[in-house]
Amino acid sequence: MRSPIPDYLAEALRSVQADRSGATADYIPQLADADPELLAAALCTLDGHVYSAGDCGVEFSIQSISKPLVYALALADRGFDEVLGKVWVEPSGDAFNEISLEPDSGRPRNPMINAGAITAHSLAGPVGATPDERFARILDGLSAFAGRELAVDESVYQSEMTHSFRNRALANMLRAHHILDEEPLLVVDGYTRQCSVLVTVNDLAIMAATLANRGVNPVTGRPVVPAPVVRQVLSVMSTCGMYDGAGDWMTRVGVPAKSGVAGGLIGALPGQVGIATFSPRLDGHGNSVRGVDLFQRFTADMGMHLMDAPRAAPSVIRDSRLVGSAAAAIWVLALQGDLRFATAERLVRALAEDPPAAPQVAIDLERVLAVDDVGRRMLLEAVRRLTLDGHQMYLIDPNGVLPGPDPGDGGRVTVVQDLSEIAESDRSVVRR
Ligand code: DON
Repeated sequence: MRSPIPDYLAEALRSVQADRSGATADYIPQLADADPELLAAALCTLDGHVYSAGDCGVEFSIQSISKPLVYALALADRGFDEVLGKVWVEPSGDAFNEISLEPDSGRPRNPMINAGAITAHSLAGPVGATPDERFARILDGLSAFAGRELAVDESVYQSEMTHSFRNRALANMLRAHHILDEEPLLVVDGYTRQCSVLVTVNDLAIMAATLANRGVNPVTGRPVVPAPVVRQVLSVMSTCGMYDGAGDWMTRVGVPAKSGVAGGLIGALPGQVGIATFSPRLDGHGNSVRGVDLFQRFTADMGMHLMDAPRAAPSVIRDSRLVGSAAAAIWVLALQGDLRFATAERLVRALAEDPPAAPQVAIDLERVLAVDDVGRRMLLEAVRRLTLDGHQMYLIDPNGVLPGPDPGDGGRVTVVQDLSEIAESDRSVVRR
């Protein structure tokens, strides 16, 4: 069978092809003269498969799409306190190049507008790095997000630098407020290089998928930034990524996203997929016209809106039964599905309201697919409390979904592969 997904992408591109509204960015010739008909889309799954259609091999400058990625590098390199002290996370509702600084501190309102992105650039790499060392760190980090070695388009960089008066003004303002504490022009130079890094739509889909995959590049398997950093970055993309169009975007499309003036657009759906589009004509917010249309179509067709929660899972307790009799009896509680807060709460409520009626209790995890940190802690706390109540506790975990379980203070648990390892004796089963 031929996969329907490339056909779907090609058909999605055809559906927006006729729209010639908007215009290429006009502040430098390299962007103004881009072929406005170029059109591409790509999806990268979290097991690293890339689907693409259209002009997916064409390189273009990453521009503002570098902002969330470099913000991620800054957070990873310098920590949250230092970065948040210099760049806040409040949507400005302003255009990307607006002077959105907090009135007293001069702190940029968020890292997606230029003032915040220039500051985030200055915070990538170790303290005291030279501008060249910092740029090497950024290029290496962006390459790790893409899973291949990226390069700068020197002509875009040179041209942007000859037109970077507004960014220089922003950097000087930031220097005056001690948000930057080095030569402002050098920071603008590095930031402009960062925006001039060349990517394809496939690179962008992999970068987005790295964000969707808790910071691990799904193609190379390389960890790029830690998961808490990704959560911060995706949150800021949701509220500020589309500038003064962010609210409209989040309600209609519902995927954390970031656009660039060369026509690229990325969206990262946590735990599912990275998406990217490329089409150079921009709307009044500086976002790709056909890219926005494609994203609306993707989220509608593929149910990708972040606020469309999956239906509540069926009961986490698949079965509870008494195996054996008298002193050798084992209360077996078989679980199913994913164990996270909502399902673990159902489990601990059931155990509290209806305590196991046998001295030995085995919690069977064979049909449990995944356990998150909260699910793990709640399950182990239940194990600890049942131990303190006098039960002998077992976990049946043939698939290793709960490695190294430690119920903590006063708790004890034995892990087995199979019920037969606990009880060989009486096999009479009493159903509850
Ligand atoms: O800072 C600038 O002006 C550009 N190099 C990047 C701007 C950009 O991509 C805005 N996004 N839509």
